[in-house]
Amino acid sequence: MKLTIIGTGYVGLVSGACLAEVGNDVFCLDLDADKVAALQAGRIPLYEPGLTELVQRNLAAGRLRFSTDVAAAVAFGTLQIIAVGTPASASGEADVSQVWQAARAIGQHMTDYKVVIGKSTVPVGTADQVKALIAAELAQRAVVVPYAVVSNPEFLKEGAAVEDFMRPDRIILGSEDERATLLLRSLYQPFQRNRERLLLMDVRSAELTKYAANAMLATRISFMNELANLAEVLGADIEQVRHGMGSDPRIGYDFLYAGLGYGGSCFPKDVRALRHTAAQHEVPLRLLGAVEQVNRQQRLRLVAKLATLWGGDWQGKRLALWGLAFKPNTDDMREAPSLAIIEAVLARGASVLAYDPVAMPATRALLGEQIGYADSPMAALHEADALLIATEWKEFRSPDFEQMRALLRAPLIMDGRNLYEPKRMRELGFVYHGIGR
Ligand code: UDX
Repeated sequence: MKLTIIGTGYVGLVSGACLAEVGNDVFCLDLDADKVAALQAGRIPLYEPGLTELVQRNLAAGRLRFSTDVAAAVAFGTLQIIAVGTPASASGEADVSQVWQAARAIGQHMTDYKVVIGKSTVPVGTADQVKALIAAELAQRAVVVPYAVVSNPEFLKEGAAVEDFMRPDRIILGSEDERATLLLRSLYQPFQRNRERLLLMDVRSAELTKYAANAMLATRISFMNELANLAEVLGADIEQVRHGMGSDPRIGYDFLYAGLGYGGSCFPKDVRALRHTAAQHEVPLRLLGAVEQVNRQQRLRLVAKLATLWGGDWQGKRLALWGLAFKPNTDDMREAPSLAIIEAVLARGASVLAYDPVAMPATRALLGEQIGYADSPMAALHEADALLIATEWKEFRSPDFEQMRALLRAPLIMDGRNLYEPKRMRELGFVYHGIGR
């Protein structure tokens, strides 16, 4: 099938590469000429396991191309997949201006049947507005061209995005147009594997499903973080409680990890946007307000603990920080808890020496030399008064504890991801603080 992807951010790029991989002919449009030139040369502007190989292979095979040519992009695909960014505006509302721009461009250039597919996370009702915008452009041109607008939200997790696209749990399709539904069914046929994974529903339900799923997961995380704080004062261990809870199949084990709160490009933005939509319709989502509040506070949980340990005087103190990215296997710093931690530590007058296997260039671009960057986890510990762990990268799981103790000025570990056993850490001579245990 011939298809066009509008927007080469995370979702657009992964979707384009994966759809090319199964044999489709894919045209990726982006307005950023430098980015397009880099992509056309096989250089990927983000860190995502497996993606570079996939893009390079499909470029070489001629099934994937990148361009800034809007008219050519609209002419190319029967399927027009909109995967542009929908960042949060100051009020929390999703900014859908790039979606409007894409819709107008399609309406201005289309000459034959198109299925316009909304993949960006957008407020409920956006597909209807896309439909109206295209209709207005066609009316302006005084032409009649058939088209359908469907919603097909994406559920990619950063760090596992290629795998998630290739082996989806479910494919949500909001479509009220039979011809479009048939085309989308055949587009996703290669990803069905052993059972039917496509869930067909109306457009608005599909749009809401994406927000609902992310809000539910964010709620689980904030619930566990609040419970962890209670477990701590009760002398219980949230990790044991988590096992006990997860073994109930109605609850399940996933997304029950207490930590430093959720970050990333989706949960914070989507929870805010859903609350905003709800408030607009005078159906306030009270639970989600609490989810956000708990999340904000959780980021600074270990800094608050450090304050009780270090007292008022942070001048001359140095904090070693392991992990900067909001989660492992990505260099994405959007809403990373580490940023809130760094800001609070610097504001109190201490310094930070950080290590992250991939996110240091991205952090430098944001913070410059406000913090120091170490070449290895051990180098970050040099003359540090404490170590704080903010991301559960694999390489932090089994370090040389003897060496760590020798390098740290004080044997204090603040573990925001509960990587180690508290009892063992005490035996090794550390003062060890995790989350909820
Ligand atoms: C998420 C959704 O999982 C995905 O379906 C959607 O399409 C986009 O948003 P992503 O943001 O890539 O994906 O990361 P995810 O792995 O879901 O983690 C989000 C945040 O929650 C991270 O900061 C992570 O550290 C935190 N988290 C996750 C917890 O604190 N505890 C958990 O148990 C799970």
